[in-house]
Amino acid sequence: MAMEFKFEERTIALVKGDITKQEVDIIVNAANPSLRGGGGVDGAIHRAGGEVILQECIQKYPHGCKTGEARITTAGKMAAKWVIHTPGPVWKGGHVGEVSLLESSYRNSISLANEYKADSIAFPSISTGVYGFPIHLAAKIAIKTVLSMFSRTTLSRVHFVLFSEKDFQIYFKELKNFIIN
Ligand code: APR
Repeated sequence: MAMEFKFEERTIALVKGDITKQEVDIIVNAANPSLRGGGGVDGAIHRAGGEVILQECIQKYPHGCKTGEARITTAGKMAAKWVIHTPGPVWKGGHVGEVSLLESSYRNSISLANEYKADSIAFPSISTGVYGFPIHLAAKIAIKTVLSMFSRTTLSRVHFVLFSEKDFQIYFKELKNFIIN
């Protein structure tokens, strides 16, 4: 299921499904600081893209990637051109900088996409799975951070890809609130 909205002459799509199937230039991975793969989105992306993604992570980023930062690799066998890997914060109650680290993950991913002159990008709901970040707050942060900066980039299309109906409805509500207010 997908719904599209226009915002500042650009397209925002809310998609319920598997991020590895998105036909966009860049797929964003909810990674961990080791950049050596894992479960959830991380596992799905490495499985769909193939060994070449892990090999490039090891070769280009031997020390991994700090939480909130972003690194780019090939997308391997997936339709996308690149994968941007960004470790989001682990939720620890909200008093140790988790909000600004999640904002950084989105902001640094958009900046890197702009550096690569990408036209389209797909985000998962970063940190809201294993890392336990509350989905309503994460959705607000994702939408506010991405929509307040992407019109100043080469991007004309952004997908937020949700894995469940519940998450889709939460993002839908937050997106409507952002666009209307
Ligand atoms: N496509 C889109 N969304 C997905 C997919 C998929 N194929 N698989 C899972 N999701 C959703 C989850 O349902 C959740 O809503 O992505 C969101 C993020 O969940 P996680 O993948 O657990 O990511 P995160 O919470 O950021 O935790 C990252 O988990 O997989 C490990 O190596 C990863 O250590 C890192 C940690």
